[in-house]
Amino acid sequence: MSQFLQTQRRECHLSSSDMATPNRRTALQPVSHSAPRIDIGIKEPDRRKIATGLGRLLADTYTLYLKTHNFHWNVTGPMFQTLHVMFEEQYTEQWQAADLIAERIRALGFPAPGTFKEFLATTSIKEPEGTPSAEEMIRELVDGQEAVVRTARSILAPAEKVDDQPTVDLVTQRLQTHEKAAWMLRSLLQT
Ligand SMILES: [Fe+2]
Repeated sequence: MSQFLQTQRRECHLSSSDMATPNRRTALQPVSHSAPRIDIGIKEPDRRKIATGLGRLLADTYTLYLKTHNFHWNVTGPMFQTLHVMFEEQYTEQWQAADLIAERIRALGFPAPGTFKEFLATTSIKEPEGTPSAEEMIRELVDGQEAVVRTARSILAPAEKVDDQPTVDLVTQRLQTHEKAAWMLRSLLQT
């Protein structure tokens, strides 16, 4: 008998013979197998709307992560060292952020998208074609950082409307990070 069933039997004060009876096992299900309904003070349609927005933010974050990592690998030219290191800092932060966004979607009661197919269907980030020059990589990443900013900003109003402070905090942090990254990347192109 699995540890789980042993625990459930103790909690329900049933004997081994009770557990062996199919009907008795079925009757245990509401106690042992049904998760409680989510009741965090935000109605299901509002949670769904916020989770959908966070799903788009996750798709953008993951796609920008992959693009930035790609450019870390493939950048060339006199700025190699600067860009190689800067891109690594950015993709590492984005990778960690993707986990936080996905887990917020789960806490709101919905599955987190986790396939390239789903990400490509909803992301607003364009995939690179071929291997761009170093300058073109910077331009593409400025565009990408700002695209994530726009997606993140669109989640603020629905989250604030229902006092979803954890989502507001997460999205605010994402806005700060991506706006700062866009500024730093853009500064590389200013003379
Ligand atoms: Fe590396």
